Amino acid sequence: MEVIIRESTEAACGMVAQIIARSVRGKAETVLGLATGRTMENVYGKLAQMHQSDGLDFSFCRTFNLDEYIGLEKDDINSYHHYMTEHLFRHINIKPGNTHLPDGTAKDLKAEARAYEEKIRACGGIDLQLLGIGRSGHIGFNEPLSSLMSRTRDKVLAPETMAQNGPLFIGGEMPKRAMTMGVGTILESRRALVLVTGEEKADILAQSVEGPVTSRVTASALQMHPSCVVVVDEAAASKLHDRDYFRWIYENEPEWDALR
Ligand code: GLP
Repeated sequence: MEVIIRESTEAACGMVAQIIARSVRGKAETVLGLATGRTMENVYGKLAQMHQSDGLDFSFCRTFNLDEYIGLEKDDINSYHHYMTEHLFRHINIKPGNTHLPDGTAKDLKAEARAYEEKIRACGGIDLQLLGIGRSGHIGFNEPLSSLMSRTRDKVLAPETMAQNGPLFIGGEMPKRAMTMGVGTILESRRALVLVTGEEKADILAQSVEGPVTSRVTASALQMHPSCVVVVDEAAASKLHDRDYFRWIYENEPEWDALR
């Protein structure tokens, strides 16, 4: 795991957008794993801009989102389908048929979960998985005590997650369950790219990166990912013990020369 501390939220989001763009330029058929949440809005805005002004081409990309609420129709304003359309898909040249999110309205949720895993496999697996961290320490909606070997399935959301995401709901109640890729699914991505910003995430970030690997904080499982980059701003980094060490690695790692 590598932790990159950037001077501002803007710089952290810019770096994440650049890493995604580099992956898409390097392999036109990149399979992207995508995340939702407030943190990612800035990144998607930047990718849309790169498409519009620099011609960043998404026409061969395939995408798989981490999760979706159970019971929300695709066109529900509170669904992650709607979020992705509004923040990214309608601004770039991705083919709608190449974008995938779990169907939270499926009658047979277990069959839908299996089919989602199968679709990821059929596309050759996820090249680059974008992730945020929720206040409960979740990645996707893998709430505390999710198995670190889990696959896509339906999950009951933690009260902390209800409190975090509830205020975002417009004109309807937040569902108490979601369909999410499992921790095991996420760990199989070829590369994981985590973005964490803001002081309110400082504590959970420190637990995830420097604490023990534990199902109580499912983001900590990323310590076992073979290629995981965590990009954070100064505020989120404020409770990391080894900040100077992370800076040293970043400054001396040639991979980042072009993105500094
Ligand atoms: C939701 C998503 C997570 C995301 C989290 C962070 O709960 N399921 O994948 O990491 O939001 O949200 P925010 O960026 O709004 O803090």
